[in-house]
Amino acid sequence: MTARIIQVDPFDLVVFGATGDLARRKLLPALFQRDLAGQLPDAARIVGAARSTLSRDAYRAQAAEAIARDAAEHPEAAARFLARIDYLALDGVSDGGWSELATRLAEAPDRIRVFYFSTSPELFGPLCERIQAHGLASAQSRVVLEKPIGKNLASSRAVNDAVGRVFPEACVYRIDHYLGKETVQNLMALRFANALFEPLWRAAHIDHVQITVAESLGVEGRAGYYDTAGAMRDMVQNHLLQLLCLVAMEPPGQLTADAVRDEKLKVLQALRPVSAANIAQTVVRGQYRAGAANGGAVPGYADELGASSGTETFVAVKAGIENWRWAGVPFYLRTGKRLPERLSEIVIAFRPIPHSAFSERAGTIHSNHLVIRLQPDEGVRLWLMIKDPGPGGMRLKQVPLDMSFAEAFGVRNPDAYERLLMDIVRGNQTLFMRRDEVEAAWSWVDPVMALWRDSEDTPKPYAAGTWGPSAAIALIERDGRTWHEDANWNRDARLAT
Ligand code: BG6
Repeated sequence: MTARIIQVDPFDLVVFGATGDLARRKLLPALFQRDLAGQLPDAARIVGAARSTLSRDAYRAQAAEAIARDAAEHPEAAARFLARIDYLALDGVSDGGWSELATRLAEAPDRIRVFYFSTSPELFGPLCERIQAHGLASAQSRVVLEKPIGKNLASSRAVNDAVGRVFPEACVYRIDHYLGKETVQNLMALRFANALFEPLWRAAHIDHVQITVAESLGVEGRAGYYDTAGAMRDMVQNHLLQLLCLVAMEPPGQLTADAVRDEKLKVLQALRPVSAANIAQTVVRGQYRAGAANGGAVPGYADELGASSGTETFVAVKAGIENWRWAGVPFYLRTGKRLPERLSEIVIAFRPIPHSAFSERAGTIHSNHLVIRLQPDEGVRLWLMIKDPGPGGMRLKQVPLDMSFAEAFGVRNPDAYERLLMDIVRGNQTLFMRRDEVEAAWSWVDPVMALWRDSEDTPKPYAAGTWGPSAAIALIERDGRTWHEDANWNRDARLAT
């Protein structure tokens, strides 16, 4: 099944921080994929901008390397894509290069103009000032902000104010790339295009929710940035809270940007605050020590960083949402680096049956679980109890109703950035965070960070390749629940058993 591709309108995309990791690993490959799919019009141009003095050809060579894996089979498309790319040496702190940028953009003054800030947030304000000073913010302009947007509520407000002085909110696209993942959007389809779940989607029927975003990698070459952020700012403040919002929000009247974002905001505002009185029962932070990952020995975080550090590489949270729908339903969140596998999933655990009509010989009756797997092996699985086939009386067994997207559709799953970049050009803000959402998320995170700062405790150690500190297991087991494990998710493994 092939989706119908609709070409977007011609655009000029200026990527600030064009020599950085994100541009190379994500933005250029995503743009190339969209070009390959026929979604970019001939006139679309990409201007890389960064501090380094590079010729256009030298930057094109970097871009060619960035898309090399996908380009191998499509040399003509790769040549067409690279021909779209230009490069200018400029930054937010000096005027050099800006008038050249102005000249390039003036060649097509009415075209959609996207300014993509793939830089550190301190530069967002200065970049906006230069854009304004050089008269580059046209009526058709959009500005894209990569996370982190600030380090706390105050700095996030300062960044948003600086950007807001030049661009109205309707032109600001704050990226949380988790919202561009196919399965995350499928969560909305599952909830709002099926009548089945909505009546059950509440405290009366749901016992608890788990959201896991696990990574097997360590901090790799990003220790410098990561050590100033930590898992709470890097993952929880944005990705995990956004996932929580999509699970918990009320059905919006329409799937328009503001209707969706209004509902997400209400969830963030209803989060139970973490305080000195409840932090010990609700938040666990950890840091990995040496251990094993991907079949080999790996060093601990402090060794990778080259210094001892109080930064957390793992967080588990028992969150609560104080409204009618979710009163009393814990949302257990966990994320970390150097966990046993790369795995992101949302588990909706329904309540147990109120009464069992079966004898003990039937076996344990497990409560129903709906598992939404974001990566890898995207899919949805609903765990049900059935009768074990054959004679031998009524023996019950837990089996999944299973849908793997790869099997069902047999298409390549686009990277989140592909969808998000095209949405920016199309002017659709639904999958981007509005200012008030980002600030509401910081308002919940800030007190936790302050309590950690003032505490004598340090992150609890865990060996690389394990599921975090034992306190994270205790966090959920204390409530008589366990973290979901689905060793058989991979269907080949399941078929073989
Ligand atoms: C980024 C974080 O936002 O998300 C990284 O800064 C993290 O630390 C990454 O590795 C995870 O994204 P994905 O799409 O690989 O799950």
